[in-house]
Amino acid sequence: MRKPIMAGNWKLNKTPNETIVFVEEIKPLLAGLNDVEIVICPPFTSINVATYLTKNTNIKIGAQNLFWEKSGAFTGEVSGDMLKELGCEYVIVGHSERRQYFGETDQTVNKKVFAAFAASLTPIVCVGETLQEREADKVEQALSAQIREGLQGLNAKDHGKIVIAYEPVWAIGTGRTATPAQASEAHGLIRGLLGEIFGEAAQSIRIQYGGSVKPDNVKELMAQSDIDGALIGGAALKADSFEKLVKYK
Ligand code: PGA
Repeated sequence: MRKPIMAGNWKLNKTPNETIVFVEEIKPLLAGLNDVEIVICPPFTSINVATYLTKNTNIKIGAQNLFWEKSGAFTGEVSGDMLKELGCEYVIVGHSERRQYFGETDQTVNKKVFAAFAASLTPIVCVGETLQEREADKVEQALSAQIREGLQGLNAKDHGKIVIAYEPVWAIGTGRTATPAQASEAHGLIRGLLGEIFGEAAQSIRIQYGGSVKPDNVKELMAQSDIDGALIGGAALKADSFEKLVKYK
């Protein structure tokens, strides 16, 4: 049985003060809800206040990125241990915006995934095809390269808690969502690829869907058997909307 995981990816939004307002608003709305795992991924500068305010609640905090080295002369970077010490439990790795604007590749994703596990953080690894790849009928090829190279060297025993987010690039922030059938097909494909790496344990790995998830489409997406949660951008920024997403049932 895979416990659904609903995660808000705030991207470059909310100052520490705005984070306080959001967290204080959402905490009572989600109190006592335990059949869904709830994660919020604020910017680095809001993590401290977010973990402090959500201590002993059902809300977990994640980061949006990390660097693979533990320390050293890497100006502007943040390590897994630094995030862990702040109380993070999750970290997003390889989001398509990082691949697109910051030069991330399947190779850097792979290093970051290992760095996350080394710091006892659970990576949420993002994969997804571009519109060009979908139109050229290359969805399987794109996902297979991202999974095989990004997750190379992992094994079920040490890395079985990984979370995958399937985010078709053409659906992110565009208002265009994959149909439940399209998402379902991709999730099935991904689970098959995970099987090559993790064997039977692939059945317990959670695969989130991401890309314009909103309160009005979350239910039918979540009804698909291989969709185990959502990674939500825009619609996770307002407490009432995030509440509806978490309570999709
Ligand atoms: P969106 O973003 O929900 O705003 O499309 C999702 C994501 O990028 O994780």
